[in-house]
Amino acid sequence: MTIKIAIFISGRGSNMQALAAHAKCLSPQDFPFEIGLVFSNNPDALGLEWAKAQGILTISIDHRPYGKNRTVHEALLNKALLLNGIDFIVLAGYMRVLSADFCEMWDGRMINIHPSLLPLHKGLNTHRRALESGDKVHGCTVHWVSAGVDEGQIIDSESVTILKEDTEESLASRVLEAEHKLYPRALDKALKQRFGQ
Ligand code: GRF
Repeated sequence: MTIKIAIFISGRGSNMQALAAHAKCLSPQDFPFEIGLVFSNNPDALGLEWAKAQGILTISIDHRPYGKNRTVHEALLNKALLLNGIDFIVLAGYMRVLSADFCEMWDGRMINIHPSLLPLHKGLNTHRRALESGDKVHGCTVHWVSAGVDEGQIIDSESVTILKEDTEESLASRVLEAEHKLYPRALDKALKQRFGQ
């Protein structure tokens, strides 16, 4: 059984690229998956161009015309997911909060990457907050998505040592490298948990 995943992005899409690279060289131990679709709420997301150039189906539905009404935007999104036979959603820098109804519908079939060692530093500006808190270790976490933002059960994480000379930028760049290592491994774990024997 090959699982068809949709990757949701809002910007540059470097995590998407790491997952696409992994999809191209799956080992027999890895749970088989293919990228059926890259979705964005931002039609100008840089990552969409990259995905298109790889021959991956891309769909963007701008959320802005729908204002605060998530229902219609998510209904259109869901239709696109169902029409394309998507089994599993991977949020990779998707910057729009999903409604509780959407999370419920995809419960156990949707994961996210967050740039901190959860439960520390939920939300935005995680690198700045890790430095301000005097943390010695920082990192990234992949977790199941539940209705509470950054609150779902943790699947796996990767630590990054904070150096004395670190700035927000230098720390962000090492955490991003760690994300690219973590996400393929965590996706494999999640697929095995959900669809394995
Ligand atoms: C990553 O740091 C991710 O953890 C956060 O947004 C960033 C997205 O980067 N949620 P990219 O679009 O995957 O390059």
